[in-house]
Amino acid sequence: MKRAAHIPPDHPRAAINQRGADLCFTVTKFDEVSSTSDVAKQLATKGASEGTVVVASAQSAGRGRRGRAWFSPRGGLYFTILLRPNVAPERLRLLAAASALAVFDAMAISVGRRLLLKWPNDIYLEGKKVGGILIETKGSCARIDEAFVGIGVNLQRPEMVIPPEVMNSALWLSDCASEAPSREGLLADILRSFADRYKELLSSGAGAIAECYNRRLLLMGRKLNVRCDGKALVGICRGINEAGALMIDDNGKDVSITTGEICSWQ
Ligand code: BTN
Repeated sequence: MKRAAHIPPDHPRAAINQRGADLCFTVTKFDEVSSTSDVAKQLATKGASEGTVVVASAQSAGRGRRGRAWFSPRGGLYFTILLRPNVAPERLRLLAAASALAVFDAMAISVGRRLLLKWPNDIYLEGKKVGGILIETKGSCARIDEAFVGIGVNLQRPEMVIPPEVMNSALWLSDCASEAPSREGLLADILRSFADRYKELLSSGAGAIAECYNRRLLLMGRKLNVRCDGKALVGICRGINEAGALMIDDNGKDVSITTGEICSWQ
């Protein structure tokens, strides 16, 4: 069943959001775009429905978290899913974690247990980044009207020159999988898994997602150096909580951070 968009939270049909709803995907393919998230936003302003997926073979201005560029040559998988959640922002605090789990589940089919998640929403393979997620939302403090889930996966190692900063931190699925999946196959697996995780998030709440996420967390129990609001923090990682914050034990003092950067870990 496809959920209608823009139902006011106090409307009787908004109850559907309480138990979650199935997503129907409509995939639109492009050769090269600036950013699939920008294209998805343009389509959203023209009334595109929930489940619209914009996928491109390459991006000329792919972007990541914190305004960073996302290296997007041909051979990778780049796409953005449009959601029209119509729920309070608190209910989507783990959308990034749920999305990361969806990508993890789909990629694990090819590379199994060597994958791990790095807070907040990176997919790591053999200690290097193989995928990332960028969540952008539109709405008010009472309700999220639109969410754009941008997903990038390093699939086939490009033959072109790779920028040194990417080379040092990234890995491609083709480096590790005996048989790397096709872009179409991986996209289909991620979308299937995303529909399940999103439904789980809306119906069962954040607890189940946080628990699954923590079981796959690369940093769990490790000593972290974190930069948060310009301050340096050191502590043992205790996983994320239901609000999506990373919990750190700083010599017996519990600290939770909602934004920040893990600089290193041991
Ligand atoms: C990150 O790790 O910083 C997030 C990277 C997200 C990249 C994807 S690729 C598809 C979508 N379009 C973009 O411009 N960014 C996201």
